[in-house]
Amino acid sequence: MSTRDVSLPKASSEPEIVRYTLTERICHWVNGISYVYCLLTGLALFTPMLFWIAAVLGGGAVVRFWHPIVGVLFVAAVYWMHSIWQKDMKTTENDLKWKAQIKDYIENNDQKMPAQGKYNFGQKQFFWIMVYGAIGLLLSGLFLWFPEMVGRSWHWILPIMIFIHEVSALATIAGFMIHVYMGVFQEPEGFRGIISGRVPASWARKYHRLWSDQVSSESKTRK
Ligand code: HEM
Repeated sequence: MSTRDVSLPKASSEPEIVRYTLTERICHWVNGISYVYCLLTGLALFTPMLFWIAAVLGGGAVVRFWHPIVGVLFVAAVYWMHSIWQKDMKTTENDLKWKAQIKDYIENNDQKMPAQGKYNFGQKQFFWIMVYGAIGLLLSGLFLWFPEMVGRSWHWILPIMIFIHEVSALATIAGFMIHVYMGVFQEPEGFRGIISGRVPASWARKYHRLWSDQVSSESKTRK
């Protein structure tokens, strides 16, 4: 991957292949939009320094009302994404080779990296961070949503739930920042894929060769 490829690709007559179906793209963007709303409103509720975000998004009461509801939508969307993509996100032998060579990836020595399937090891790790993060956020969030349901003798559990909520949020934020940076700036072809569903065949061959080979052999078998 080159750090120079930062502009959106120009339209060309280059052959393209399908990377994301319409259902996958809708699922992805329900995740994306609900996550960004929870992130912004969560930051507003987290510290008075960021409470101005709540003012922009309708006020403290509005944000407190909608944050957990949109949070449940986000968790449902992650569940949906998990049901569609989990089989593509299993760690393979090849991923472990990729992991062992992560230094080359960071230093943009892509030619030294082992050929990748549809997703590389880093992309798979992000997926699992979001899945486990969503579980942590949901379980702890329910306690924070309905604290009055927690009996007096169980009140000690609330600070623990706040801690779990914050740790889960921080893990997803770290993954999310890398995800958006990689997807939008480092691999703009991938961004085009998650919008239109299609990516140039040459990009697929360069970064996801095992997947690209699989797609072309499947299309030859169909002919
Ligand atoms: C809102 C901002 C977001 C942007 C700009 C964004 C961007 C992208 C892009 C460009 C891709 C395609 C990468 C490729 O095909 O190689 C992608 C894929 C993906 N996105 Fe997002 N995304 C966003 C939010 C999210 C959220 C909140 C989640 C999880 C809940 C998520 C989960 C995924 C997953 C699992 C993939 C496939 C694997 C991967 O590329 O990491 N995305 N996204």
